[in-house]
Amino acid sequence: MLGNFTYHNPTRLHFGPESLNQLAGELANYGPRVQLIYGGGSIKKSGLYEQVIAILKEAGKEIFEDPGVMPNPTVEKLYEGCRIAKENNVDLLLAVGGGSCCDYAKGVAVSAWCDEDPWKKYYLRMEEPDNRILPVGCVLTMVGTGSEMNGGSVITNHQEKLKIGHVFGPEVYPKFSILNPNYTLTLPKYQMVAGIYDIMNHITEQYFSDTDDCTSDYLMEGLMRSLIHSSRAAVQDSQNYEARSNIMWIATWALNTLVAQGKTTDWMVHMIGQSVGAYTDATHGMTLSAVSLPYYRHILPYGVHQFKKFAVNVWGINPAGKSDEETAQAGLDAMEAWMKELGLALTLTELGVTEDMLPGIVQGTFVMKGGYHVLDQQEILDILKASL
Ligand code: NZQ
Ligand code: ZN
Repeated sequence: MLGNFTYHNPTRLHFGPESLNQLAGELANYGPRVQLIYGGGSIKKSGLYEQVIAILKEAGKEIFEDPGVMPNPTVEKLYEGCRIAKENNVDLLLAVGGGSCCDYAKGVAVSAWCDEDPWKKYYLRMEEPDNRILPVGCVLTMVGTGSEMNGGSVITNHQEKLKIGHVFGPEVYPKFSILNPNYTLTLPKYQMVAGIYDIMNHITEQYFSDTDDCTSDYLMEGLMRSLIHSSRAAVQDSQNYEARSNIMWIATWALNTLVAQGKTTDWMVHMIGQSVGAYTDATHGMTLSAVSLPYYRHILPYGVHQFKKFAVNVWGINPAGKSDEETAQAGLDAMEAWMKELGLALTLTELGVTEDMLPGIVQGTFVMKGGYHVLDQQEILDILKASL
């Protein structure tokens, strides 16, 4: 294990079909004023909204509704959420929805009592909160981001054509998250597979870095094998509880900082994907799937040993009679075949990207330095062109 680290994750998880029963106990830890955050209406259709309202009322809470959190929450919505939180002096932010609702709740948590413009402070200048932070709780309905147990909060500024994630510290993580796999059964297939690829990519972003023998790599290989297995079962039968519950649990462990320990991590697919998102507002997981294969094929020569390990240990490629590079390539070919099986977006064109957007997307891409190769702007442009 490389480096020095302190590992601490303060989020309490309640998992399973009966997990909503734990909400009342959690609510007892907070004051009476609850800001109820949700998206565009899926929780009303599923009936979850009514159940949560009943629990809040039973607990004697005053409810301040904050609906309409859009996929890829915007900075304008963030300002609105801050107004609701501050004007009503809320005690708890309760997000019921997917990663967008959880991320947004964390954004409001650090911004409501911030005297400056939170977009500039947290997203452009990447400063840490030094004001009151409101507590967040989540009831998760969409699987993929890991937002239920991490400090990530991604906000989109359409005017500035920037989509930026700030990874806050443990004081901003949800205090609790309720994970009932049954809630995910109503997801449209497009969202389900986008979430599955988001999980896979969170793992590969951390896996493809460093050259030492690292326990985190073994943990990630296990998570990826379980994900591949369960994703196939879920695509065959979207109502398969066993598969969907495994996918929900993998998503949490893929991005709750456990497997990042000892790794420098890459994150360039996300950096490019987020910039694509700022231009198209496309579904997050699909922005990743569209650029992944050109990106990984581009960096493979710089990290052949790890791509070979990925091929053999995750995809079951037999290395006999193959060069290391051929084995490594075969792993990516296997991943491509799986991505096609799932029905993921494999081109940027299908997400609405046109060639004239590419220079701006390059400009909006933050370059990370932890992976096998540090990209220059020309290389990012080449990867984007190969993804069209
Ligand atoms: O708004 P509603 O009506 O609820 O519909 C949502 C939304 O349209 C729908 N949905 C959610 N649960 C459903 C459902 N539809 C039917 N049944 C259900 N049970 O699905 C759509 C997408 O939801 P969203 O929350 O946007 O998806 P996701 O969970 O993928 O979150 C995406 C956001 O998270 C950020 C992304 O950039 C994006 O902004 N990320 C956050 C990360 C983090 N916190 O660490 C890391 C990720 O890499 C990612 O960047
Ligand atoms: Zn992601």
